[in-house]
Amino acid sequence: MPESQKQGLAVSRLKNDTFLRALLRQPTDYTPVWLMRQAGRYLPEYCETRKRAGSFLQLCKSPALACEVTLQPLARYELDAAILFSDILTVPDAMGLGLYFAEGEGPRFERPLKDEWEIRNLTAPDPHAELQYVMDAVAEIRRALDGSVPLIGFSGSPWTLACYMVEGGSSDDYRKVKTLAYSRPELMHHILEVTAQAVVKYLNAQIEAGAQAVMVFDSWGGVLSEAAYREFSLRYLEQVVAGLIRERDGQRVPSIVFTKGGGLWLESIAAIGCDAVGLDWTMDIGRARRLVGDQVALQGNLDPNVLFAPPEAVARETCRVLDAFGNHPGHVFNLGHGISQFTPPENVSVLVDTVHQYSRSLRTAR
Ligand code: CP3
Repeated sequence: MPESQKQGLAVSRLKNDTFLRALLRQPTDYTPVWLMRQAGRYLPEYCETRKRAGSFLQLCKSPALACEVTLQPLARYELDAAILFSDILTVPDAMGLGLYFAEGEGPRFERPLKDEWEIRNLTAPDPHAELQYVMDAVAEIRRALDGSVPLIGFSGSPWTLACYMVEGGSSDDYRKVKTLAYSRPELMHHILEVTAQAVVKYLNAQIEAGAQAVMVFDSWGGVLSEAAYREFSLRYLEQVVAGLIRERDGQRVPSIVFTKGGGLWLESIAAIGCDAVGLDWTMDIGRARRLVGDQVALQGNLDPNVLFAPPEAVARETCRVLDAFGNHPGHVFNLGHGISQFTPPENVSVLVDTVHQYSRSLRTAR
C-alpha cells in the first residue's frame, strides 16, 4: 500500500483529527482548540481527585488517577485534544534532584545543582525506569480516549528545566542560573546537553507509548537576552526537535515549541524544524502569521486573563484572535499561557463554543 494511503487509514482511526491536521497546516472545517493546563484547579472535580490522591505528585505518579484528570476537561468541553496530565519537573526528579511541592509555594528541589561535581555526575534518566509511570499514564489515557481526540505528550525545554534545577524552584530574577551561564558557560552547556538528551528520550518514549503530538514548554526562554536565548535555549530546542521520532504507525507526530516571551524571535524559532510554534498573548497572531508564512502552524494566543471578564467579553476577544489569524489553515486555538486556577469554568464553555462556531462561519464566508 502506498505511504499516503497508509497515512490516510491511520488518521481515519481517530474520530476527530482536526488538531493534528491543523498542526500540519492542512485545511479543517473549523479551528481546533485545547487549553494549556486544561486539567487543573479551576475544575472542582480535579480538586476532588487531587484530594483523593493525597498530593499533586501522587496524582502524577498514579497512572489511573492521571488518566482520570486528563479526561475531566474533555467531559465538560468539546476540546479537540487531550494533554497528558503530568509535570515538566518529572525529568529532573528522575535525575535525582528530589521534587516536592511546598504548600502554596510551588515546586522545589531538595538537591538543586550547586557544585561542579553534581553537574558532572548528571545523567539522562531511562524513561522506562524512573519515568515508567508517565509512560503507563500515556498508554492508559490512549486506551481511555478510544480514538476520540489525539493525545499530546510534553516536556520542559532544556533551558527551562535547567532554570528549575539550578534555582531549586521558581525564581523572580534567575540570578543563580544566569550567574552560572555567564561565569561558567561550559558547565551550563553540560547541564543543557544532558538535559536535551533526557528530553529526547523522554518524548520519544511518550510517542512510543501513544502520544500523537508533542509539545516542548520553554516557559523561561523569554527571560534571556537574544544572544543568550540563541546560545542557551534555542540551540537545545533545535537538538530536541532533531532527535524526535517523526512518524509512528504511518502517521506524522507533529511537534510544537512554545517559548513564553519568544515573540521577538519567532522567525528563528519557526526555522528549527518544529511543525508548530506556540505564541503567548503579547503578539498579534496575524502579524506572527505574516512573519512565519507557511513554514509552521501557530498555536495560541488568547490572554488567559480574558477568562475573568463577562461571557460577552470572552466571546469578543476569542473572535478577535480568530479574525487576527484569518481564514487560513494552520491555527490551533489556545491561551497564551496556562489557564488560571481562579477561572470560572463556565467561561471556558463560552471560549470553546465560540472558537468552533465562529471559525466555522469564517470558513463558509469564504
Ligand atoms: O496542561 C495540562 O493540563 C497538563 C498538565 C501540566 C501541568 N504542568 C500540571 C500542573 C503541564 C503541561 C504542566 C507544565 C508545567 N509545569 C510548566 C510549563 C508550562 C507553564 O506553565 O509555563 C511549568 C513551568 C511547570 C512547573 C510547575 N508545576 C509550576 C511552576 C507549578 C506551580 C504553579 C501552580 O499553578 O501552582 C506546577 C504545579 C502544577 N502542574 C499544577 C498542575 C495542574 C498545580 C498543582 C496542584 O494541583 O496543586
